[in-house]
Amino acid sequence: MKTATALKKLNLDISEFEERLFDHSVVGITDNEGTIVYVNKNFCKISKYPSDELIGENFRILKSDEHSHEFWEKLWDTISSGNVWEGEIKNKTKDNSTYWVKTVIIPITEGNLIKNFVSIQNNISKEKEIQNRLLKMEDDLLKQNVTLLSQVEKKSEELVKSERLATIGTMASRVAHDLKNPLTIIHTYADMLTPEILTKLDIQDREKWFRLQTSVLDMNRIIEDVLDFARTTEIKKKKTSFLSVLRLAMNHVKTSYGITINLPDSDVSLKCDARKMEGVMSNLLNNAVHAVDGQGEVDVEISSDSKNLIVKVKDSGPGIPENDLEKIFEPMYTTKTTGTGLGLVISKSIVEQHGGTISVSNKPTTFTVIVPLS
Ligand SMILES: Nc1ncnc2c1ncn2[C@@H]1O[C@H](COP(=O)(O)OP(=O)(O)OP(=O)(O)O)[C@@H](O)[C@H]1O
Ligand SMILES: [Mg+2]
Repeated sequence: MKTATALKKLNLDISEFEERLFDHSVVGITDNEGTIVYVNKNFCKISKYPSDELIGENFRILKSDEHSHEFWEKLWDTISSGNVWEGEIKNKTKDNSTYWVKTVIIPITEGNLIKNFVSIQNNISKEKEIQNRLLKMEDDLLKQNVTLLSQVEKKSEELVKSERLATIGTMASRVAHDLKNPLTIIHTYADMLTPEILTKLDIQDREKWFRLQTSVLDMNRIIEDVLDFARTTEIKKKKTSFLSVLRLAMNHVKTSYGITINLPDSDVSLKCDARKMEGVMSNLLNNAVHAVDGQGEVDVEISSDSKNLIVKVKDSGPGIPENDLEKIFEPMYTTKTTGTGLGLVISKSIVEQHGGTISVSNKPTTFTVIVPLS
């Protein structure tokens, strides 16, 4: 049964009912082109326009930037074809603030022609504000969730990596340890036999004998590297001249004619584990010498600021492919036939044990070591 019929049956005054209903709503009436012909008190209150400034204006006067062109087109299509439109609209007031209204627009027809549109609206700005706040909170939570997830992923990757390192470390140190004794025996006996053997060998075989001895030394160094990697011995800091560390490191550098290594003139004194820093520098220098491949220059620069020693090892070699810049500090990454790929891993761990950093850049290839002076 229609409301009007029901009201009539109950003997209630329909116009009184409508009046009271409209008193609680924002009511506006336009002609069939959208020109405002009537607004109630609530309409003026919410839109902040006096009624005489609204009458005669098009409904567009209240349009905010919120809705798309398609939104308005659909609304207009619905009502101009005689149907009721229902939805939520964000309107603009006279002083350019905005408000949300739940809206019903009813076309009033006379015969087949639409004469007017009646819009009945209710203020839902507060609900909208709460809804927007909730949406923002949901959005923030989602973002936080994404950040947390990527942090968890990163941490678990680090965990897997450190577990893998620990396993490699244990296995490698066991093998290295077992090889160390037989190798020491070869080294000792070869040394003992050298004077006698040299008298019996011609010049070409002497060369082979020396190559054999150098290879034993190389193997020994590799084993020491592996053991160093597995051991995380405490560093022992003492006041040290860094230039003397560099000079000692030079003893382990396999240079050749055609390669110039420029050491700095000035010195920096700091507290560090000299033996371990010597290892770091000999690895960086050997890497640089290897990179220049028989012809080129290696420059070592040292400087300091109020807190740190800064060492730069530059070489004129071809550099490191951009994609491999991160990988070179990972264990077992090597491009050399005789490399362990542990040199930079050990160097990084030693520098970090000193509270410092090691980084690399190209053009020219430069390894930068920064360690605190004390
Ligand atoms: N100065 C450099 N120029 C170009 N590539 C470099 C340089 N220094 C290091 N690399 C690259 O980084 C890799 C890893 O170096 P790292 O010192 O860790 O091991 P390695 O030198 O290969 O082996 P090891 O140190 O046991 O002899 C090298 O094999 C090389 O590919
Ligand atoms: Mg190396």
